[in-house]
Amino acid sequence: MGAEADRRLLGCRIMNPTDVTKYLAVFHTYVEGFRYGNGQDVSHIDLKRDHSLRVLENTRHILAELNGDAAGAPDETASGASFKGLCCLAALFHDIGRFPQYLRYKTFNDRESEDHGLLGAQTLEREGFLGGLAEGDRTFVIDAVCFHNRITVPDALPEAVRFAVDIIRDADKLDILPVIINHCRRNEISPSPVTFYLKPHPSAYTEAVYRDVLAGRMARFDQMQWVNDFKLAMCGWVYDLNFPVTRRLICEQGHFEALFDMLPNGPEMQKLADRLAATLRR
Ligand SMILES: [Fe+2]
Repeated sequence: MGAEADRRLLGCRIMNPTDVTKYLAVFHTYVEGFRYGNGQDVSHIDLKRDHSLRVLENTRHILAELNGDAAGAPDETASGASFKGLCCLAALFHDIGRFPQYLRYKTFNDRESEDHGLLGAQTLEREGFLGGLAEGDRTFVIDAVCFHNRITVPDALPEAVRFAVDIIRDADKLDILPVIINHCRRNEISPSPVTFYLKPHPSAYTEAVYRDVLAGRMARFDQMQWVNDFKLAMCGWVYDLNFPVTRRLICEQGHFEALFDMLPNGPEMQKLADRLAATLRR
């Protein structure tokens, strides 16, 4: 589909979640412009493209399971747009900042480059991808993209935006877990941007990271040295899941068993596994 046809799609209103498919062409055209360089560069762009599409699917899944219960949010916004449709649109574009981030810095590490949520919000504004939406709906999507990756989501966010951010964060984790797990299975020896260039090692991990996760705290990135620290940090995501459906899907898909299979054996890891299992059962 040509760029002109893509632009015409921008005028379409988001009336229900399936209407988000009209924005897929815009997304694909934009991402295609970043698929150049060496094979590794293209594979990193493809990784984030495919991730974005799966987060959209996960968001649809979570919304469907919530079965109309959108935590007090209206079915429609003031302009008549579907609230769930806007959540899906925010999910599709949630990592749009990753593409300019990789082009400029060759990394997905926000600490070494820029906050990719903020970069995503700026990208949506600059490219005019949401030009067909009413102003309030556009602000809703841009805010959800901007705040989806904050360690703590600001209390001042409007309740509806907060709800969209909560869904995207769960949908994001549902997808990132198997991506990182599969990556670690394939690549045990060389540092990679997928695991933020942390050092691979079969058994080394940082005690402070382990203690944070065991205590129910989110791990701090500045304390991580090893790929195993990142695996431990992902275990800690259990404390940051917002919906029972996400906890259930993560249990069903066996992601935490897979993570512990790739962490060193021993009573410390068993203690952590028991703690996480108890949290997931809540
Ligand atoms: Fe993100």
